[in-house]
Amino acid sequence: MCGIVGYVGARHATPILLDGLARLEYRGYDSAGIAVITSTGELQIAKAQGRLQSLRTLVATAEPVGVVGIGHTRWATHGRPNDVNAHPHGDCADRITVAHNGIIENYASLRDELMAKGHTFRSQTDTETLAHLIEEELGDSDDLNLAVRNTLKRVTGSYAIAVVSRAHPGRVIGARKDSPLIVGLGVDENFLASDIPAILKHTREIVQLDDGDIADLTATTVTISDLDGHPRQPPTLHVDWNIEAAERGGYPHFFAKEIAEQPDAAHRALLGRIITREPAPTLALDALDALVASGRLDAVRRITFLGCGTSIHAAMIARYAIERWARLPVDVAIASEYRYADPVVGPDTLCIAISQSGETADILAATRLAREANAPIIAVTNTVGSAITRLADGVLYQQAGPEISVAATKSFIATVMTLYLLGAWLGRRAQTLSEPEEQAILHALLDIPEQMRRTLATFETREGQQTLASVTGRLKDCASCLYIGRGVGYPLALEGALKLKELSYVHAEGFAAGEMKHGPIALLDTATPLVAIATEGKTYEKVVSNIQEARARDAFIVALATEGDDAIRQHADAVIAVPRAPEFFAPLLTVIPLQLLAYQVALARGCNVDQPRNLAKSVTVE
Ligand code: AGP
Repeated sequence: MCGIVGYVGARHATPILLDGLARLEYRGYDSAGIAVITSTGELQIAKAQGRLQSLRTLVATAEPVGVVGIGHTRWATHGRPNDVNAHPHGDCADRITVAHNGIIENYASLRDELMAKGHTFRSQTDTETLAHLIEEELGDSDDLNLAVRNTLKRVTGSYAIAVVSRAHPGRVIGARKDSPLIVGLGVDENFLASDIPAILKHTREIVQLDDGDIADLTATTVTISDLDGHPRQPPTLHVDWNIEAAERGGYPHFFAKEIAEQPDAAHRALLGRIITREPAPTLALDALDALVASGRLDAVRRITFLGCGTSIHAAMIARYAIERWARLPVDVAIASEYRYADPVVGPDTLCIAISQSGETADILAATRLAREANAPIIAVTNTVGSAITRLADGVLYQQAGPEISVAATKSFIATVMTLYLLGAWLGRRAQTLSEPEEQAILHALLDIPEQMRRTLATFETREGQQTLASVTGRLKDCASCLYIGRGVGYPLALEGALKLKELSYVHAEGFAAGEMKHGPIALLDTATPLVAIATEGKTYEKVVSNIQEARARDAFIVALATEGDDAIRQHADAVIAVPRAPEFFAPLLTVIPLQLLAYQVALARGCNVDQPRNLAKSVTVE
């Protein structure tokens, strides 16, 4: 995710742009930039790596002066965070400049085409392609709006863009597809923004652009059309949020906002990797091309996952699928243990280092150990240019956008989705996965975002909220809570327990359900609830047996089950239903009520949801 802001009016644009970007830093903060058309018709661009303060310092000495401009705060997806890759990006002559949020999937082929026509590129970003394509489409014409529309018809992927051109002073053009963009309606001034907080100080009248819309703004007019130029008139909405609530998108906590963003994060994890072209979706992990070209994958006979916390749980879930699809032995190592052990690792071991922040000290140390043993390294991280990326031979970004809340949610989803893509890719390379099997996996992944939306919707219904409330009532005062599951349900039980304890400080522990009778069942009594992952799968009956054993010891049973499973109701005190999904994919849905439950218990206990006590978002020390 990135933050975009645009202004056209009669006031000084620079402070309005900078203030707007400050309100959007939660969307990305590895670099920032503004472009302002000055009163003399120049296009002044200022960009700086790092947080917004670096840009403020840069412009403090020579502030661009003009009444039209755009700004951008970045969460990198292509190209390291640095001054050159910061947005906005200009065409060859810096006549046009573009700020972009999203992923242009076909940017490489477009870039080759434009370079063959003589365009010179300066950055490694997908966004710069848009500026040169608009320049190409504009040619000698004066129709900027048509040039932008023609450009957007040629790109695949997601975008929210803001465009200014020094040949077209007094205008800002915005457009969106799969990334948010709104128009703010002022008095003799108009705004563009990725999100409401950026402009709430100036106007509460907004227009939410829809996918395929293009908005052409002057100080006094706003013209919206589709990409064919057919007029559109989306409704004007009045926003009554306060600024703080607006930064969380109206949610009370970032944790709640980021849970709600999970379907979008699941969708973004697939962008640029599953190319949904007819006749069938195809899988492409271009980011691993260099590793493939090195030949080092050919020596791989096993896989080791390295991670901590939630990242480990995601790896444990993916392990089942990757062993099934790629027929390679997979082990999952806790980084803080691995780094001090004497692991068997070498060129035959593909190490996959998972870290949302990419800065966790233990994961970096463990990865260095594997690297010193000449193991090929793939990093799966949410943070472009993070330390883990510099230790890896290939990087698969989670593409989930900044995750502000300490407790991981959408990065977990994005990690599992990314690892499943990697598993299918390894399986096809090894020919242990047939094409029909690969197609089934890709279609299952493509279905996940909508199934997640359906899952979220069930917990917005009165019945869903009542179920959560009643279970919250039983968990909020308990001394300890047990979570059990089998197969992919086991790491999910660990993740559910982690969410409860890190958010609400209620002790919780996850177990492989089959382990209960080897000790943990001694813990069960009326005061110790048991949360069982009992969704459909080959071990469903076994989990039901474990539930019955627990019930016989008077434990309060919460069963997470597949919609339509009525039989489970006789065994559980509360049933939380989730939509049906193929067994390996069910955790992507079932984790949602586990997150919501932990959230409700934390609220009931008055905990600080986004910054739990003793915890940090990135553990950069041992
Ligand atoms: C999970 O909710 C916690 N925030 C924590 O366990 C986290 O997953 C762990 O510290 C690893 O962080 P990383 O993915 O940034 O390396």
